Amino acid sequence: MKIDGIAYRSVWLDPGDGWSVHILDQTKLPWSLEVLRLATRDEAAHAIKSMQTRGAPLIGAVAAYALCLALRADASTEAMERDAELIAATRPTAVNLRWALDRMLTRLRNTPAAERVAVGYAEAALIADEDAAQNASIGRHGLPLIEAAARPGQAVNVLTHCNAGWLATVDWGTALSPIYTAFNAGVDLHVWVDETRPRNQGAALTAWELGKHGVPHTVVADNAGGHFMQHGMVDLVIVGADRVSRTGDAANKIGTYLKALAARDNDVPFWVAMPSSTIDWTLSDGVANIPIEQRPATEVTEMTGRLDDGSIATMRIVAADSAAANPAFDVTPSRLVTGLITERGRCAATEAGLLELFPERRSV
Ligand code: MRU
Repeated sequence: MKIDGIAYRSVWLDPGDGWSVHILDQTKLPWSLEVLRLATRDEAAHAIKSMQTRGAPLIGAVAAYALCLALRADASTEAMERDAELIAATRPTAVNLRWALDRMLTRLRNTPAAERVAVGYAEAALIADEDAAQNASIGRHGLPLIEAAARPGQAVNVLTHCNAGWLATVDWGTALSPIYTAFNAGVDLHVWVDETRPRNQGAALTAWELGKHGVPHTVVADNAGGHFMQHGMVDLVIVGADRVSRTGDAANKIGTYLKALAARDNDVPFWVAMPSSTIDWTLSDGVANIPIEQRPATEVTEMTGRLDDGSIATMRIVAADSAAANPAFDVTPSRLVTGLITERGRCAATEAGLLELFPERRSV
């Protein structure tokens, strides 16, 4: 996607040295656009853990490159297995992280150590390219949902939560891909952007990238969505996912479940968009079994913003002696999900629906 007319991906290799990894430092957005160069396993692992890079599909691609950086230091089998585990431990909920590392290891275990760096970079590039292509396809499959909601003289109102745009993937995004596709096709639309406390991925990232593409949008407090739905101001909800069970339960940023409940109460379609790398085929009960990342209390007790003088400041917003809890994700049970949008098409949020699109998974 483009920033001020220049095409970007959210991860790429340094064109000069051909091996170090560049990401956009998402902790600096929306205040400044800063490119971060990752040269070691530890720098890449830190970038994932600290959310300088984030979003389920992007975490997978960066994890693949993190393993390449590790292989440059030591390509022995013992080191490779150890380093993959270390990278996998950075964030627990998005299954794309484990999926990408497993795919890398499957490719690399049968590769001689001397060839592992080259083979690893080739596989990581494939993972990144496939993610971009799959997300573009999600956009094409989601487009009819937005077109169907169009009324003459009225913008289609789509509500989204967190950031499931191109910043959260290698390109295009998941939930935002149908939105970009519809916007590019000339559909009159408007996006309600949940601010997404505590880290404000909606306010800081989704609003920023929609704005850079020229998509009309309005940032709203997380608690406003139900009110808008009650008053007919939301035509459909599209969110991304960090892990989807084989039965269609969807883990996504904390607060997604509440939006699904409000959508059901108001007959608003609630769609989850994700590439197949986000499906955990080993899980049947997502609500019980998807691990939920617990993040530091300071993300709740503090807020960061830009002061009038342009400086960035972090301040405490909670009384000094109050504790805070910070589960980063919740799981929306499949019964509240109208359907799933994948790179192979749309389906019901059920095991049967997913297996119709992915028949090769029937025996897993
Ligand atoms: O904690 P984050 O910012 O990595 O969480 C991201 C989300 O919850 C996204 O909505 C999800 O990864 C879908 S990404 C295309």
